[in-house]
Amino acid sequence: MASEILQPLQGMSDISFPEIELWRLLENKARRIFSLYGYREIRTPLLERTPLFLRSLGDTSEVVCKEMYSFEDRGGRDLTLRPEGTAGVIRNLAGLGPAGLNSRVYYIGPMFRCERPQAGRKRQFHQIGVEMTGDPNPRADAECIALQNHLLREVGLKNATIKVNTRGSIEDRKAVSTGLLDALEPNRENLCNDCQRRMEENILRVLDCKNPECQKIVNELPKMTDFMSDESAAYLDEVMKRLEDMGVVAQIDPSLVRGLDYYEHTVWEITHDALGAQDALCGGGRYKLEIGKKSVPGVGFAVGVERTLNALQAEGVEPSLPGMDFWLISLGDAALKTNLKLAQRLRERGLSCQMELETKSMKAQMRKADRARATWAVIRGENELADDIICLRNMKDGTQQEVSCGEALATLERVAE
Ligand code: HAM
Repeated sequence: MASEILQPLQGMSDISFPEIELWRLLENKARRIFSLYGYREIRTPLLERTPLFLRSLGDTSEVVCKEMYSFEDRGGRDLTLRPEGTAGVIRNLAGLGPAGLNSRVYYIGPMFRCERPQAGRKRQFHQIGVEMTGDPNPRADAECIALQNHLLREVGLKNATIKVNTRGSIEDRKAVSTGLLDALEPNRENLCNDCQRRMEENILRVLDCKNPECQKIVNELPKMTDFMSDESAAYLDEVMKRLEDMGVVAQIDPSLVRGLDYYEHTVWEITHDALGAQDALCGGGRYKLEIGKKSVPGVGFAVGVERTLNALQAEGVEPSLPGMDFWLISLGDAALKTNLKLAQRLRERGLSCQMELETKSMKAQMRKADRARATWAVIRGENELADDIICLRNMKDGTQQEVSCGEALATLERVAE
């Protein structure tokens, strides 16, 4: 398999120019917008102890049951490549004492899930996420959804839909499970095998099933909120009202439960029609994570970078490709050496430039200048050296001017402004 060695692993991708430009756009906007809301960056390790994820994501979640890259290292430690960012971040904040229980942090980086690769499902994918720790507060949840919406709008995404629901409080859990179990019982045989198992292990997972037969049954179920306390229903109501106040358009999706077990109260997803079956760009919600002896409440979300960029491209957003201020063209060895010095001076002044580092024909060098989208070409050959000038060519209209070497730097700085 000579060619296999040149490919990344299945479900993983090299991300390079030109598509990397859209990645940078999204990441840069995220950094700027998060700072407007008081979030600071955090970078946690990609590898964590396996029990961190088993306990926080829930050992009946699909991610934990089927998708974790877990292994024993050479020291016999059980480790897992992070499948998501929340658990590692909250581990860090829990270790900070009281300050960590009232924090706002964001992260950008790769996550790993050993899923069957298909459109929208990668084994290494990337998330941009935030976590805000603090006690349950519908205003915090609404602000978090508004922030996510702000980011997507800022990058130019227009046709995304925000779906919100509640999983109720911990105290509601029993009533919700019993209520759903009773409602599903008459249809037990008609559910897929996975859902029949889910009825015993974690009944909320049934609501999340993508099987069309199961979905039909789920659509007929009473709403989860019917089994919850009035307080939990009022909490969701308050989130929706605050969103409306802030001008964020969101709809309630009564069957939205999310795939991770740490959520309570508000959960949400942002979907996009262009994405097909895996239509969720972003997911988030309020949670309580038990880490060590600490219990950390918070709210947060993660934007799936690949899916968001796919949606952006489907809406026709293209990366704007960076150009280059100057391409230095050298005709002959002496010109090449002099240009190398000029190139260094230009870069030290913050101007971008590039040149061939071997002698090449004029035609070949002009072709390179074109491809690099250079605004100007600086041409120097034996005649220019003898006259102590450079020839400055406007790459757009082809006009040329001669500039004395003494004024070259000042002129190049001026034209590049
Ligand atoms: P999640 O819904 O599992 O939530 O993932 C968030 C987003 O990551 C998804 O909406 C999707 O865009 C992207 N994603 C997930 N799996 C894949 C995959 N295999 N391939 C490509 N993209 C994928 C979380 O991870 C939570 N930690 C979010 C959160 C933060 N909740 C509270 N705080």
